[in-house]
Amino acid sequence: MELIEIFPEIKLIKEKDLQDKTTKVWKRAIELGGWKEEDLFKIPFTLLIPNIKINIIEHTRAVTNCALKIAEVLQLSYKTLSINGDYLIAGGLLHDVGKLLEYERSGEGFRKSKIGVLLRHPVSGANLASEIGLPFEIVHMIYTHSKEGDIYKRTVESIIIHYSDFVNFESLKIMKDV
Ligand SMILES: [Fe+2]
Repeated sequence: MELIEIFPEIKLIKEKDLQDKTTKVWKRAIELGGWKEEDLFKIPFTLLIPNIKINIIEHTRAVTNCALKIAEVLQLSYKTLSINGDYLIAGGLLHDVGKLLEYERSGEGFRKSKIGVLLRHPVSGANLASEIGLPFEIVHMIYTHSKEGDIYKRTVESIIIHYSDFVNFESLKIMKDV
């Protein structure tokens, strides 16, 4: 299955070169992690919520689409606020790509890999994006989307992805708590 079919939001990126590089980062992560495209449908989006059925594709798309809605409202409300739509989509689609290196198979399930113990996914994902030549604005978004970014001054695109990610994560996390 083609990545553009797995993540149709890639087509929403206006700049063709950025579309290609976003696809390349996912392909490289699949290759380095020893996965196949089809495995993405089985890899959970988090190991922190036991038995979660939401996979990394569903999560990545939900975070990206939530971010687009947030950006739409912000831009309608605050005319002077400028948000780069291409960066937002590419950063949303790539924010968790490092999980393909952070996780590995364990029997029927998944666990943290040796790489994952050393480098969390924001770090490995940012490295991959940098290797493929993504703009530093997007490398920044991947690196700062989670707690690693708390010591940084996030860009507006990174702020949106950060909160979009957490609203998705926290909403699903309470399902196990209630
Ligand atoms: Fe995420």
